[in-house]
Amino acid sequence: EQATLTLDPAFRIGAIDPRIRGSFVEHLGRCVYGGIYEPDHPDADEDGFRTDVLALTRELGVTTVRYPGGNFVSGYRWEDGIGPKDQRPRRLDLAWKTIETNQVGVDEFVAWCRKAKVEPMMAVNLGTRGIEEAAALVEYCNHPSGSYWSDLRVRNGAKDPHRVRIWCLGNEMDGPWQIGHKTAREYGILAKQTAKAMRLVDPDLELVACGSSGRWMPTFASWEAEVLEHCYDVVDYVSLHSYYRPKDGDYASFLASGVDMDAMIEAVVATADYVKAKLRSSKTLHLSYDEWNVWYQQPGDTREWVVAPSLFEDQYSLIDAVVVGSLLNSLLRHADRVRMACFAQLVNVIAPITTETGGPAWRQTTYHPMRLVFQHGVGDALRVEPRGPLVETAQYGAVPQLDASATLDPETGAVALFAVNRSLTEPLVVEADVRALRGVRPVEHLALYGERDATNTKDNPDNVVPRSMPVPELADGRLRVTLPAMSWNLVRLS
Ligand code: AHR
Repeated sequence: EQATLTLDPAFRIGAIDPRIRGSFVEHLGRCVYGGIYEPDHPDADEDGFRTDVLALTRELGVTTVRYPGGNFVSGYRWEDGIGPKDQRPRRLDLAWKTIETNQVGVDEFVAWCRKAKVEPMMAVNLGTRGIEEAAALVEYCNHPSGSYWSDLRVRNGAKDPHRVRIWCLGNEMDGPWQIGHKTAREYGILAKQTAKAMRLVDPDLELVACGSSGRWMPTFASWEAEVLEHCYDVVDYVSLHSYYRPKDGDYASFLASGVDMDAMIEAVVATADYVKAKLRSSKTLHLSYDEWNVWYQQPGDTREWVVAPSLFEDQYSLIDAVVVGSLLNSLLRHADRVRMACFAQLVNVIAPITTETGGPAWRQTTYHPMRLVFQHGVGDALRVEPRGPLVETAQYGAVPQLDASATLDPETGAVALFAVNRSLTEPLVVEADVRALRGVRPVEHLALYGERDATNTKDNPDNVVPRSMPVPELADGRLRVTLPAMSWNLVRLS
């Protein structure tokens, strides 16, 4: 049995927003301290940033980075992280039971973003704090000068405004674990009033309302509906979060995690559009998938209070990279509505980049599909209409063995097909009808496949990397590609 699909420029889903290539840096574990920032490291620059991590971030092609949390933000006082470093307080971070030294704050983060060539995406604390502190932070960051907070920024060394455009109105406010957790009504009203005040300081902001922490939340969809009824008019995006891992060794369902992501996106689109209809609004809301990844280690609470403990430093395997590739397919397939996305997180904490404190940095398995999708999945997303065999899964029933997305760069004419074979054991032949892509020829096939549990380590950092496959045959306008079992693939045409 083989699968088929069609690559046709007429089947356009929409332009891919570069901001779907985003990531996330939270004050959590060794993401900030020992991750992006380690002043005593031999590769640290004059500001204490690890240049090896900066180089890997740039190579990855990340466009946007969300900061400073996450659960951390819901107890954070942003003023603790500005001014002379030796006067910054050490605080208890209640979200992650960690001592926060505040050696990195908003000014350092924005400086790091400029070096990493990424756009900052800030979150405000709507857990323990509210409208006044959020408006003050916008004033500190974006007001040119001549006011209390903007002049303080200038005195702290940042003469020019930071010009932060994207702001998250809190984090996971639906979650009972969140400090300052709220009902949908409480949060919707607070989000609306906070948005109003922040826009009075700077009208050019793009604002993200908190959606659900996952499709598994009992309040999923009703949360979005109620929150958006309060704040639809003043926000531009609603957020989505999803993390996946194999449960009880069920790798077949794990490989089909994209089915859940598709369902989550489509349910949030439907709910946002329901609110649009109900309010007779002419505005269409976009989606910010601002936390997504594979995540194994779960929080425990038996630790002592320390600075930057090693938390959630998952070591990713080949199958995890295949699943990450398939989640990227899901984002590309919904490029018309998903306009921002952040894989969580960038370094050390559930991350594609790992560092050793004082030692090297290396690429995890999951780094590779991200880098290749970020590099080649540009321009327009195309609908590919796949057909073919199904695989049985305990969690999602029978799902297509082939999971695919495709892109066409209108500027260069380059086409990329991203394909996952969800079978744990069987290769899959795919026949792609490319007749509509006149004059385009296959140039490369890269595949991630092999031993399910293979990882990249400090001593063997290139154990799992994409491998070159024979360039697929093209005959009578049809391309034949063989996808190895349990694999993520990139086929390029130009
Ligand atoms: O990314 C790790 C955590 O996952 C974030 O802090 C939180 O928002 C989510 O639950």
